[in-house]
Amino acid sequence: MNSDQLKQQVAQAALAHIEAYNFKVDLGVGTGSTVNLLIDLLPQVRHRIGAIVSSSEASTKRLEALEFKVQELNQTGDLTLYIDGADECDAHNRLTKGGGGALTREKIIAAASKKFICIIDHSKQVDILGKFPLPIEVLPMARSYVARQMVKLGGQPIYREGFVTDNGNQIIDIHNLKILDPIELENKINQIPGVVTNGLFAQRKADLVLIANQQGEVTEQ
Ligand code: A5P
Repeated sequence: MNSDQLKQQVAQAALAHIEAYNFKVDLGVGTGSTVNLLIDLLPQVRHRIGAIVSSSEASTKRLEALEFKVQELNQTGDLTLYIDGADECDAHNRLTKGGGGALTREKIIAAASKKFICIIDHSKQVDILGKFPLPIEVLPMARSYVARQMVKLGGQPIYREGFVTDNGNQIIDIHNLKILDPIELENKINQIPGVVTNGLFAQRKADLVLIANQQGEVTEQ
């Protein structure tokens, strides 16, 4: 199966997890190509959905096109379930996210959700996080300063030129990191002045990861 077909399989599998609740779930919706496929399937479980909160303007637009009313997290309070993709996932369900630049809102929604289900295909599985460049959202005036601090931590920062986040900030992608202690690094980076957040989801990792293997079968981790 090709990559799009694998994403389709895992999106379909996530739907069953929404359907399984015997009440209306307040749902957090992530961002990216895998989640887009899930969004397209959500009308099938409309009856199981209470409030919906989105992690990006792009996902909001897609949800609204399907006549879902997207609410603010401030209105809903904590959510039942958050479903999102990832760029990398290790054996402990710790993730790298933010390839699409929506990491800050994703991290907020993950933190505010009782359960976080991550949906990926097998190509995202890694032994050690860091092969995928680690995104950091920064306040624009702090970009070079944060980049210099990341060089001291052994990374090679590349400015994501021309990209502005939904929060009006910028992204630097940190290459060449071998992340042996993701929780420690997540905390360390977040303490650098000017950092809004970084794409490590180690403190609040996924509770469950659905993985589409090469044959398109979906396993749980
Ligand atoms: C968006 O900012 C990211 O965190 C996505 O969750 C991640 O990049 C996965 O996207 P794909 O499903 O497109 O691979």
